[in-house]
Amino acid sequence: MLHDLGKIGVREAVLNKPGKLSEGEFTEIVRHPGTAVRILEPIPFFRPLLPAILHHHERFDGKGYPSRLAGNNIPLASRIMAIADTFDAMTSTRAYRKALPISDAIAEIRRCSGTQFDPDIVPAFLACQSKIVIPGDVSLPEGFDEAVPVEYRPQPG
Ligand SMILES: [Fe+2]
Repeated sequence: MLHDLGKIGVREAVLNKPGKLSEGEFTEIVRHPGTAVRILEPIPFFRPLLPAILHHHERFDGKGYPSRLAGNNIPLASRIMAIADTFDAMTSTRAYRKALPISDAIAEIRRCSGTQFDPDIVPAFLACQSKIVIPGDVSLPEGFDEAVPVEYRPQPG
């Protein structure tokens, strides 16, 4: 949760935008790890976590943000968080899309091993599959949309 605290500084329209982000919108998103660090750094309790938070969107291949770190230059905790965070994002319903089935999310994590994710950590994540508990908000059951009054349904954009 705290790793994305910096999203408080990103406009809602950008956070919930369904399609591709413009360059300016992406710049807003890229700032969120640094914003989280600036919010948390005055609190001594959180200081040991700041490097992990700052780099949770780095990619193993060096194409992530904010510092384009690669491989083992990315803090271990960030490499672990990257997998958990992406899995959580894919298996959560957003304003602009339904949650993916868990099997699809697992396949995507596997597909991105070695590019987005540390290939030494992905197998450890996959080995924990039976222990993964997703609270609420996973794939909506068949017919769920029709059971929800229109005013409470997620609206695109
Ligand atoms: Fe994030």
